[in-house]
Amino acid sequence: MFKTSFGCSFWLRTIIIWVGILYYSIPQFYYLKQTSFLVNVVLTDFPYLCFMRKIIIAIDGFSACGKSTTAKAVAKSLGYAFIDSGAMYRAVTLYFMKHNVSITDPKAVSKALQQIEIEFRFSTENSRNEIFLNGLNVEDKIRTLEIAKHVSEVSAIKSVRVEMVAQQRKMGKKKGIVMDGRDIGTEVFPDAELKIFMTADKKVRAERRQKELLERGDVIDLDEVMENIKHRDHLDSTREESPLRKAEDAWELDNSDLSMEQQVDVVLKWVDQKIEKLEQASSVQS
Ligand code: CDP
Repeated sequence: MFKTSFGCSFWLRTIIIWVGILYYSIPQFYYLKQTSFLVNVVLTDFPYLCFMRKIIIAIDGFSACGKSTTAKAVAKSLGYAFIDSGAMYRAVTLYFMKHNVSITDPKAVSKALQQIEIEFRFSTENSRNEIFLNGLNVEDKIRTLEIAKHVSEVSAIKSVRVEMVAQQRKMGKKKGIVMDGRDIGTEVFPDAELKIFMTADKKVRAERRQKELLERGDVIDLDEVMENIKHRDHLDSTREESPLRKAEDAWELDNSDLSMEQQVDVVLKWVDQKIEKLEQASSVQS
């Protein structure tokens, strides 16, 4: 059957549009909207998500300032894909540690990189994207402080970055993606429609990370967590290859005093503003 650029058939698209028009114009449909959640989702949210303009949202910032949690909630609300690029560097670090790959030996590093396959799979059980390293789920293994202690050295290696950035760009080809990391707005997607630079007070970040580790069963002293955060902030922002920095056109969000819901709301409002501007610009052009 005839396929549209949206990936769904012409007739399906036509039917959805007409059902949408009827839904908004016939009073009985209004009644349905108020009575059924399913009708609401099928008749409005689904067509809206199918046809709304899709953008790339790049979220960068320091360690443990809630980038991934925000990115994940924003992606869920928009029906976008969510990619935690830090998880990819953590997975590479896990592989290097397991296989005693010396990070000062370029040959060993590039040989190891050829043997690494990283993918994200959605877990319906945990309703999250989980990372797989060579077919094995390593979502929990990469979140330890041990990995955090080595990841910034690994992520500073040029060949590692080249490989990861190439994979990340592939993931964003069709847009409709929220990706968080350190170089997403500056290097991976310099043309991202919305770039956000997140910050938060160091102590707040350390407390949040300590809580996260505790929830995973790791009891770690606050000072040790704080030290790791400071060390990584320093390495990430001073390295030669794609250092962490705010893109000139990024919008800054300090979330020290915001709840998770509040910061997600801020980002969603910014998405609406950006999409509206893009729509206006394209209607002026046409
Ligand atoms: O969650 P947290 O903020 O602690 O860090 P992460 O996002 O899991 O990233 C772990 C490490 O990967 C960072 O400290 C960086 O060294 C590196 N990273 C990077 O270099 N570039 C990215 N786009 C993402 C992470």
